[in-house]
Amino acid sequence: MIKMQRVAYALLLFFFFTPFAGAQQAVSNAAIASAHPLATLAGREILDQGGNAFDAAIAVAGVLAVVEPYNSGLGGGGFFLLHRARDGRQVMLDAREKAPLAARTNMYLDHKGEPIPQASLVGPLAAAIPGLPAGLAHLAKRYGRFPLWQSLSAAIRLAEDGFPIDARYHAMAESHLALLQSHPEAAEQFLIERMVPKVGVLLKQPQLAATLRMLAQQGSKGFYRGPVAHAMVAAVRKQGGIWTQADLAHYQVKERAPIVFDYRGLRIVSAAPPSAGGLTLAESLNILARYDLAQLSQTQQMHLVAETLRRAYHDRARYMGDPDFVRIPSARLLSHEYAEQRAASIDLHNATPSANLRTAPSVKQGDHTTHFSIVDRAGNRVAATLSINTLFGSGFVAGKTGVLLNNEMDDFAASEQAQNVYGLAGSRANRIAPGKRPLSSMSPTFVEDKRGVLMLGTPGGSRIISMVLLAILGLEASPVPDVAALVSAPRFHHQYLPDRIEVEPGVFNAEVLDELTLKGHVVHLTQGKWGNMQAVWIDRASGRAFAASDPRVAGGALAW
Ligand code: DON
Repeated sequence: MIKMQRVAYALLLFFFFTPFAGAQQAVSNAAIASAHPLATLAGREILDQGGNAFDAAIAVAGVLAVVEPYNSGLGGGGFFLLHRARDGRQVMLDAREKAPLAARTNMYLDHKGEPIPQASLVGPLAAAIPGLPAGLAHLAKRYGRFPLWQSLSAAIRLAEDGFPIDARYHAMAESHLALLQSHPEAAEQFLIERMVPKVGVLLKQPQLAATLRMLAQQGSKGFYRGPVAHAMVAAVRKQGGIWTQADLAHYQVKERAPIVFDYRGLRIVSAAPPSAGGLTLAESLNILARYDLAQLSQTQQMHLVAETLRRAYHDRARYMGDPDFVRIPSARLLSHEYAEQRAASIDLHNATPSANLRTAPSVKQGDHTTHFSIVDRAGNRVAATLSINTLFGSGFVAGKTGVLLNNEMDDFAASEQAQNVYGLAGSRANRIAPGKRPLSSMSPTFVEDKRGVLMLGTPGGSRIISMVLLAILGLEASPVPDVAALVSAPRFHHQYLPDRIEVEPGVFNAEVLDELTLKGHVVHLTQGKWGNMQAVWIDRASGRAFAASDPRVAGGALAW
């Protein structure tokens, strides 16, 4: 019996971790797309020294933690989607933050059951237990060729010697000046004399350099145990946080089977729960596969995509959470029968009010986190989306460790009625529990077909999933894949609640938007454009790899 179980388990693993045969890909050149040129260069340096894509991912993530500290870092977490060329293994490394063991379901509610403003967003009480350091250590140990210290050396150097403030850092810090000034350690680390340094000034982070060095030399225990852990816990508790040493000592990354499905000849491999990405994409594309989008007008296409997203995000809210805590009906959500049922309520001429699906809060939006995509010459691939949640996370730097803590606790549902900072509807499946991971939208994704492999992802809170969806639709529709066009294409979004189509300003024809309004949609032009997609395309026939960074934000795309 036990033997049978083992065989079944082995078959299951084989099924989950083995891509379709066509996925083996000869690559003639390496490519990296990341949100910062210094991070891309650090990744290139590692590949040039003989490291693989996994080592390069550590270098890129490490440098981003230093030069783009407002978007990700050691105090945060994320998901790494991996493809190992040697055996075709595809796996998602889940380095998502976890709620501290002292967390309670109602911890952000007042005595009337109303959310306490900012409680899940600012200061150490908003911070979940970081996962990125464990993720980097795991990558080095299980997949890399280099020791951690070698892959992290550029990050340590840039933290120690400083990096020149760029226009983006300047703008981000300026927009969060009050948050940074209100926490002395944050002000010391990210400001000079309590003001945002001018562009070009070197910003040194010696305390972060020391923590990076501990991680680099000792691996996970350099961060989760010993002096760094003690200093973080002491600082968090002194300011009203609830972390304990046990929270850090027990943190573990998880290897999870990615969500794998097909859409019109494309094989899509994407993030598994606790990301909602893969399941929401699968449900959406299973619904859309029932229509011939190419035959429809732009208005009709946008209407259908919005109606599809409305339903898929409804299910995101209803069913999705940390799979270690809630039973997600994944098989059903992935099935074509279910897609058929959900598609049945779509009216081709009129918007379905979300209220008819269920009831309704309203919203704010944010736009920060980071993504990178890397392929090496052996064909190893990494697509990683990393975050501390909103810009500069909780704004709290833990004591003298230089570690800026996330505010990922806000990704939980504070109550079943409350919406989070991205306006995502609350749900039972995503309520807070000790040791639970908050539901995420981060969606590192591979899309493979006869022509090649696309590796992509982006920041953008709840809009991440729709951005990845639009890029997949764009790839399917383009006769010749053009990765630069995919990352720059105009964006629109629907997330069930609030009940509206959000559209980027200045890119859609007014007539199309009027037609959508006539169908009963509320069309909401956002203030600015959104996302920062970083994609790599590997052309199957030539083996050539191409990289592209979203033109909305200047990043670093390199193929060589
Ligand atoms: O995991 C999530 O879904 C969010 N914490 C991601 C945050 C993000 O993309 C920031 N941009 N708005």
